[in-house]
Amino acid sequence: MHLLPAVVLTIILIPSCGARVLNFPVSTSNRLRVHFHKGQLQQRLHTPARLRTLSIQDGNRKHVSAQASTIDIELQNLNDTMYYGPITVGTPGQQLNVAFDTGSSANWIFSKRCLSSPDTRVPRKYNNASSTTYKSKLLRFAFGYFTKGVSGVWAEDNISVGGLTVENQTFGLATVNHGVYENVDIDGMIGLGFFKIFGGKEPNLFDNMVRQGVLQNPVFSFYFNRKDSDDPSSRLTLGGTNPDLYTGDFTFANLTSPFRWHFEGDWVQLYGGEVKFSENGFQAVVESDNDMIVGPNEDVSVLNMKLGATLLSQHGYRYVYEINCDSVDSLPDVEFVVNGKKLALSSKDYVVKKNGRCLSAFTGKKNSMVRRQPQWILGTPFMRGFYTQFDKGSGRIGFAKAKH
Ligand SMILES: *[C@@H]1O[C@H](CO)[C@@H](O)[C@H](O)[C@H]1NC(C)=O
Ligand SMILES: *[C@@H]1O[C@H](CO)[C@@H](O)[C@H](O)[C@H]1NC(C)=O
Ligand SMILES: *[C@@H]1O[C@H](CO)[C@@H](O)[C@H](O)[C@H]1NC(C)=O
Ligand SMILES: *[C@@H]1O[C@H](CO)[C@@H](O)[C@H](O)[C@H]1NC(C)=O
Ligand SMILES: *[C@@H]1O[C@H](CO)[C@@H](O)[C@H](O)[C@H]1NC(C)=O
Repeated sequence: MHLLPAVVLTIILIPSCGARVLNFPVSTSNRLRVHFHKGQLQQRLHTPARLRTLSIQDGNRKHVSAQASTIDIELQNLNDTMYYGPITVGTPGQQLNVAFDTGSSANWIFSKRCLSSPDTRVPRKYNNASSTTYKSKLLRFAFGYFTKGVSGVWAEDNISVGGLTVENQTFGLATVNHGVYENVDIDGMIGLGFFKIFGGKEPNLFDNMVRQGVLQNPVFSFYFNRKDSDDPSSRLTLGGTNPDLYTGDFTFANLTSPFRWHFEGDWVQLYGGEVKFSENGFQAVVESDNDMIVGPNEDVSVLNMKLGATLLSQHGYRYVYEINCDSVDSLPDVEFVVNGKKLALSSKDYVVKKNGRCLSAFTGKKNSMVRRQPQWILGTPFMRGFYTQFDKGSGRIGFAKAKH
């Protein structure tokens, strides 16, 4: 066996009791397979992946095929309202920032040639002309968000997230923008909802990752940190969960809709259980791109009153309540009872600081019935409290206490 002493692959095993380092000399003739099914295996190649199977073929070509079981993508926290992270689009890859939205299957990015209203200060990045794998589909697309929206043409290109590349992914290439992500460094949106791309006919990015075999396990998870704290950085984990980011066990709920990340909860209560809301059960949808927790108007107005919050403003369906900043630390947890277990949300998460004011994340909506039950929309304030896994394979969603 001819050894190449300069080529050494270092694998660090991290069982619960500490780290162990294994060094494998890579030979020209040897084929080495490491199977690892339990515990975590980290490697010093190029990705932060925890690996299950690693195969090294032919030392001359040093071909390493690593099948990642999970991949972490670091996200940026914008004032505890939005979280966004990097993707690369095209060949060679152009790096963009996108919001990942579990509330839709919208899929679009701004074109460099995008025309916006004049107050936009952030330059757009994606230039179709410098990607050799770009294809225009010659069909127009438009997405609307209330009075805002983007429009342009349907297009196709490679999109990579955390080093996992999907080929020929369909997305909307926006050439016109009305008020979306105007002054923030976000270049588009990747929907992590269900089935087809919203407004299109093609599979969404997450489904294509599974379909094209770059991701084995159809699960992803979010960790949203609190700004101005020493929390770990916010993370999207593809392929499973990251045990460093939560504590305790997951509480699971089966999905109740084949179209959305929707589940049934038992009720909502203030700590102690004397004041209950949606007592006969509720339907909840988890939305990673929503900066509020939206509930039925009559429940939310009582809940905010109990929290000592007062109505500050009303924009359309959105009622914004203010809380006295001095009282935040003494406010009770709000508990979402799911599958008989209490998910206790702390005031540190449901009070959002904005321009020196303390705002309640709870906002009301009229007539929001789904499957004859009141609907709650659980946005980023809820997800800061709970590490959330979205398990498409098993049709369920799981919550564990986020590590702070
Ligand atoms: C975030 O907070 C900073 C400081 O308070 C403020 O200047 C900025 O406008 C905020 N950005 C957004 C998008 O809210
Ligand atoms: C993009 O996809 C093509 C196939 O359409 C592939 O040959 C190419 O390597 C991919 N580029 C990147 C950067 O992954
Ligand atoms: C793609 O690039 C070409 C060449 O720069 C440009 O004329 C065209 O408008 C671009 N398409 C879009 C949708 O931005
Ligand atoms: C993507 O498109 C290219 C060119 O049309 C084709 O060669 C390649 O096989 C496609 N990749 C997938 C995964 O469909
Ligand atoms: C959720 O679905 C699984 C599989 O279909 C089933 O075994 C389980 O009992 C369900 N759990 C609840 C709480 O309905």
